[in-house]
Amino acid sequence: MIVPGSASQSLSAALAAETGLPLAGTSYERFPDGEGLVAVEGASGLAGERAVVVAATPTDAAHVELLQLQDAVAEAGASEVVTVLPYMGYARQDASFEAGQPISARAVARAISTGTDRVLVVNPHKPWVCDFFDVPAEPVDAASRLAEPLPAGLDDPLFLAPDENALPLAETVRDAYGDGETDFFEKHRLSGTEVEIAPSDADAAGRDVVVVDDIVATGTTMSEAISVLRGREASRVFVACVHPVLAGSARTKLENAGVAGVYGTDTVERVESAVTAAPAIAERL
Ligand code: R5P
Repeated sequence: MIVPGSASQSLSAALAAETGLPLAGTSYERFPDGEGLVAVEGASGLAGERAVVVAATPTDAAHVELLQLQDAVAEAGASEVVTVLPYMGYARQDASFEAGQPISARAVARAISTGTDRVLVVNPHKPWVCDFFDVPAEPVDAASRLAEPLPAGLDDPLFLAPDENALPLAETVRDAYGDGETDFFEKHRLSGTEVEIAPSDADAAGRDVVVVDDIVATGTTMSEAISVLRGREASRVFVACVHPVLAGSARTKLENAGVAGVYGTDTVERVESAVTAAPAIAERL
């Protein structure tokens, strides 16, 4: 049975359709003091069965809700609990960057491990974040799904990564699209909301460019990249990302930078979630 977290209802439905597994009904309540409570309907059907809890954790509340869902299916007697993290919150805090700081990704991974037999993480910022779990955990690559919503017939397309780390994602999307070149910019992060982009000598003039990254969070990286490309007279600039977090005014920043379209998957459910990651997850289930 697929058991959805409140932030992953569309993806869970798509995954149920893709796998033919039943989709559990769930309820999510919040008490006046702020505490949440979840319930899985038809939980008796889980006794002796495998439960697949699918819950993105973009917020602290979603983290707690996931722990509750894991506990609920165990309480119902599930014989195996698989946890799918479509988007793993805190994954980018993968080191203690300054004295006194935690390795937050490890802290949440340990907590999640206590309620599950296995974990699938969709495009964690660094794949080795999976090593922080105390149970078998593996990354799932949903990047190839991003080729699907792109307009057909892009003109001399360039699939560009805003930094070298994202180049494999750009290559995956290019391969799935079936046409185009790849390149990458160099990025230096100055703070949480400021980045400096050092352009490569990629020729963008008159071409359609798709900038590909794992996450668009504040939109700073992408809006900088779009501005550079517009300055180089790129024809149209599209943004494709696995996780359209789009915090705060990110979407507006992209618009004002001159983006022609923003495409994400449903690992984070937004208006921009143009394609589902379900087939990539189903393959690994
Ligand atoms: C970091 O290297 C990631 O791949 C993304 O580039 C980053 O998280 C995007 O963040 P923002 O949208 O805040 O620039």
